[in-house]
Amino acid sequence: MSPVQDNIHPIFDRLLQRGDKETMLKQRSKVIWLTGLSGSGKSTIAEAVEKILHERGYLTMLLDGDNIRTGINNNLTFSEPDRVENIRRIAEVSKLFLNCGIITLNSFVSPTNEIRTLAKNIIGETDFVEVYVNAPLEVCEARDVKGLYAKARAGLIPDFTGITSPFEAPEHPALEIRTDQMEIQESVQRLIDFIIPIIQHS
Ligand code: ADX
Repeated sequence: MSPVQDNIHPIFDRLLQRGDKETMLKQRSKVIWLTGLSGSGKSTIAEAVEKILHERGYLTMLLDGDNIRTGINNNLTFSEPDRVENIRRIAEVSKLFLNCGIITLNSFVSPTNEIRTLAKNIIGETDFVEVYVNAPLEVCEARDVKGLYAKARAGLIPDFTGITSPFEAPEHPALEIRTDQMEIQESVQRLIDFIIPIIQHS
């Protein structure tokens, strides 16, 4: 037997599993799926939560419209079928990270129950953690961080969620965060407090 074979660990007798990677990373992987209107605060919360998790030693991946719709999904519009395809691909990508033991923070409008159910079915019910980042349309529109609501009202953006395209509130989110009723830090803390127990490795 060669020295290499002598050192073969039982783990090499089988394919590496998600659990092996979670053990190595000392975490449980989940897909934290933030849904809500544009301007509700999804990405702000996800970015802050990711920094805190990183400081605490968790390996995470942040997916949002900026890195997905400019890359892998740059051929998709905001029509209903394209939104479905957008979310389908995102869910498949999330599943790859999930099976690699990585905690994925997803920030997508994902406006309909049908679209979110699709994501849940691809990812798996126990690993799909739906978080509703909720602020009324008037509040999101008044914030208009990216100036998109003004453009949508002016008829310059077709199919804009909340204006000319529907947003259905999630029926049973695992967590709801009302960003119009608390400061960003409190919203971030709520999410941290909620996810730490489910990503902790026992
Ligand atoms: S989703 O509906 O397919 O889930 P996604 O989260 O990827 O949407 O992208 C939403 C982001 O794209 C918004 O935050 C906004 O900045 C931008 N955007 C551009 N056009 C639209 C539109 N017609 N409807 C909603 N968001 C839009």
